[in-house]
Amino acid sequence: MTKVDVLLGLQWGDEGKGKIVDVLAPKYDVVARFQGGPNAGHTLEFDGKKHVLHQIPSGIFREKTKNIIGNGVVLDPIVLKREIEGVADKFGLNLYDNLFISKKAQLIIPTHRLLDQAYETAKGVNKIGSTLKGIGPTYQDKIGRQGLRVGDILSPNFKEKFEHLTQIHFSILKDHAIEYNWVELSEQFFTAVEFIKKFKLIESEYFINQELESGSTILAEGAQGSLLDIDFGSYPFVTSSNTVTAGACTGLGVAPKHIGQVYGIFKAYSTRVGSGPFPTELLDEEGERMRKEGNEFGSTTGRPRRCGWIDLPSLKYSIMINGVTQLLMMKADVLSIFPTIKICTHYKLENGESTTLLPYELVNEKITPVYTEMPGWQTNVKGIRKEEMPVALENYINFLEKELQVPITMVSTGPDRTQTIYR
Ligand code: GDP
Ligand code: IMO
Ligand code: MG
Repeated sequence: MTKVDVLLGLQWGDEGKGKIVDVLAPKYDVVARFQGGPNAGHTLEFDGKKHVLHQIPSGIFREKTKNIIGNGVVLDPIVLKREIEGVADKFGLNLYDNLFISKKAQLIIPTHRLLDQAYETAKGVNKIGSTLKGIGPTYQDKIGRQGLRVGDILSPNFKEKFEHLTQIHFSILKDHAIEYNWVELSEQFFTAVEFIKKFKLIESEYFINQELESGSTILAEGAQGSLLDIDFGSYPFVTSSNTVTAGACTGLGVAPKHIGQVYGIFKAYSTRVGSGPFPTELLDEEGERMRKEGNEFGSTTGRPRRCGWIDLPSLKYSIMINGVTQLLMMKADVLSIFPTIKICTHYKLENGESTTLLPYELVNEKITPVYTEMPGWQTNVKGIRKEEMPVALENYINFLEKELQVPITMVSTGPDRTQTIYR
């Protein structure tokens, strides 16, 4: 039997997962998403074209790859329809043969999006900064055992089930001042439901295990990042799913013994979009330059991303939780503008103590990052070959490798598929 390799983000999302899944996909027969939903925005660039995927796995542009949306995902049919039509228009791709959707994936219905808005508004200054795609309320219904699943759309009484759930939602929404046009929203939803019926709706856990049995190679594509994980992230400023390796087991129906390589992907610096603690955040002109150089604006919402230096205690934490076997460093080209690069090696707590561990009180306590400095490379490294790597960049990578105790096997120096160095 073959194994399932997992690729996931070690920071707060947007590490460059989409790019790398697309780069690795020719090596894999199957690419599978295991959690999250349209809150994700995974950017791919090739042949001078840029494209952002939200729910479709990032293996879709490789002809021979089968793409699975697993049971751990929350799926919005309206967004999926728009996405499928988008790749058809732009690339002439037809996904009828190579897109497979788990019948056990939970459905995001329009009231979930309205609830997301209502809950965020009610939180006021404590808002999570959710993408408002209905992720939290849909996972709430899943755990509350009242959600709808993709397989339900094939049931003759789907409309009744839908109406039952929307009644529950309306009774909550009546206490919130959210405006909407229900006729339009439900019509849009049912049109999209009919549309997705044309695709392969499957028992994905059987499908994946049969693929493993027959020797196929499988890559599980994470969404969000480990520091947004519902259990291990900076709670409550997190998403509502397990974004870590274990999530690939429950989100696909793969036993832990069938997990192979775990690719942990991180930016050469840090970013975060939405609220919540961010120890190394730069609130000054340096942060502004990083955002501009890295084009750090959300792929899903367009919001400016908060920027800061790399944070080793949090990366070590993510590596531990995920069992990372290989590291991939992204966006090395962005740091070219800085004469000095800073690396947070530990934190100083309010009581004066110094630690390399992630404190429980990340939200309420003020923790001060302690930095080591290294000279920057200050030369354009976009698309360079391995032999052209400046010594200062090589030194930076070696330093991180030594600290993190996991080999950095790939370095990305630009958004395009080809701008990737294998070490
Ligand atoms: P994902 O959510 O992890 O797939 O990441 P996003 O697509 O949201 O954000 C990553 C952004 O960085 C996208 O705009 C990518 O095109 C871009 N990107 C990826 N790798 C590199 C890189 O090495 N250098 C630069 N400059 N941009 C990159
Ligand atoms: P990808 O897969 C970055 C953040 C939101 C918010 C919090 C909760 O592209 O890396 P949610 O919509 O899940 O209720 O939002 O999580 N967030 C992301 N940040 N990248 C993502 O996905 C994200 N998905 C959610 O900004 O702070
Ligand atoms: Mg993203």
